Amino acid sequence: MKMIKVQTGGKLYIAGEYAILTPGQTAIIKNIPIHMTAVVKEAKDISLFSDMFDYAVGMTPDSKYALIQQSIVTLFDYLGKSAEEMPAFSLEITGKMERDGKKFGIGSSGSVTVLTLKALSAFYELNLSADLLFKLASYTLLKLGDNGSMGDIACIAYDDLVAFTSFDRQQVAKWIEKESIQEVLNKDWGYQIEVITPALPCEFLVGWTMQPSISKDMINLVKSAISQEFLAATEKEVQICKQALQTGDKESVKKALQNVSDLLLGLSSAIYNDKLLALKAAEDGLDVIAKSSGSGGGDCGIAISFNREDSQELIKRWQEVGIELLDMEELA
Ligand code: PMV
Ligand code: MG
Repeated sequence: MKMIKVQTGGKLYIAGEYAILTPGQTAIIKNIPIHMTAVVKEAKDISLFSDMFDYAVGMTPDSKYALIQQSIVTLFDYLGKSAEEMPAFSLEITGKMERDGKKFGIGSSGSVTVLTLKALSAFYELNLSADLLFKLASYTLLKLGDNGSMGDIACIAYDDLVAFTSFDRQQVAKWIEKESIQEVLNKDWGYQIEVITPALPCEFLVGWTMQPSISKDMINLVKSAISQEFLAATEKEVQICKQALQTGDKESVKKALQNVSDLLLGLSSAIYNDKLLALKAAEDGLDVIAKSSGSGGGDCGIAISFNREDSQELIKRWQEVGIELLDMEELA
């Protein structure tokens, strides 16, 4: 019996969050090696199960399974096939990105969307590229009314450190209303996804606040504060950071990340809550730059450390304030 197994990871913003919601802005987003797994097997009828929930479904719309079901509908529509025309399968998704019922906030909804598409692409031997996976997953989320930038999808589809320049989502949503999926997917959406290879010896650390934050709500709370000044200043720092990562310019990386962090601090007091302020303050006196990541208000923050002993001290300080190390890896 045919059986395939695929995985997707998580993501965290290094720089450019909130600004990236405006088309043409750039963000740097890092893949996080905490995975979700999908197993697809031949079956008589479509059956879907995720360990997030305690029941399985078919294709009859179920609100909890909407992301998975819509991803499947997107793929079938793209192939120009109805569900009945394609060999049926069972899909089982495991690896909740959470602990004790609290999500990590590393992109589980984006990951499950990409995972479903990637799993079926493998099952039907379609060999979809990372770029097509990105477009299909973005299409799916736009159809469901998602208000995000799709930066998470770019990072998860490429499973790498990327610089993502965002597209006009309203424009694409209009196309989706009027044109066929094939036509929409064939268009140039105007985004850019560039894989970045850092040349800077350093450690990348992820601190989990254990306080779940809902990006959708944070966006609605913060978006009216996003000004032209914020956008221009953020873009400048993101470009400096991107360049400096690739050339190994430590001081410029530190300064650019400090500046984007200050810009987020000034954008809304909801971003740096007490836990994230403590996560940032823990860098004090160390060869480390720390900041909130993504929408803030909880979830995770990140740090880049240029000294191993300082990494250990940072982890200790985080522990003392109830911040847990989720991931630590060398960037170069
Ligand atoms: O909190 P996260 O990791 O989902 O990141 C949200 C980043 C925002 O720019 C605030 C929103 C978005 O979709 O880009
Ligand atoms: Mg978040």
